[in-house]
Amino acid sequence: MSYMKKLFGILFVAGLITGSAVADDAEVSARIAAVGSTCMQGDDCAAAPAPAAAAGPKSGKDVYTGFCTTCHSAGLMGAPKLGTAADWAPRASKGVDTLYTHAIAGFNAMPPKGMCAACSDDEIKAAVDYMLDGSK
Ligand code: HEC
Repeated sequence: MSYMKKLFGILFVAGLITGSAVADDAEVSARIAAVGSTCMQGDDCAAAPAPAAAAGPKSGKDVYTGFCTTCHSAGLMGAPKLGTAADWAPRASKGVDTLYTHAIAGFNAMPPKGMCAACSDDEIKAAVDYMLDGSK
């Protein structure tokens, strides 16, 4: 009987030790994770590519691939296709300023700024240039 008591006692103590060891591990890794997820300027992790938060104006190509391609690569709803000179020649003949205005303000089924609300006018113009240059 006393042997059983001792055995239970040992198991109980062992359980406490293992239990608390596990809790400590979890606590430590939680603390490490908290530190690890903090990215300071100048750290390697801060230099990791973050397209959405990229500094500086987006290139015409970036704007095109991010927004315009949805309609302008397949010619959705009659959108002039990138790379198709026959689609763009009649547009270009209106003058590039008209195309800029239409791209920024919208034109029929062409939504204002091609639905890139965060794009600046210059970024939209760059995307128009990119499509014109790629459709000659
Ligand atoms: C939701 C689909 C859609 C998206 C997204 C879109 N366009 Fe368009 N776009 C169109 C359609 C449709 C037309 C043709 C409109 C017409 O001629 O009636 C068009 C026409 C144009 C034209 C020619 C306008 C003219 O006067 O002939 C330009 C320039 C243009 N889009 C630029 C862009 C740019 C730049 C982007 C991305 C920032 C973009 N579009 C994104 C659908 C889209």
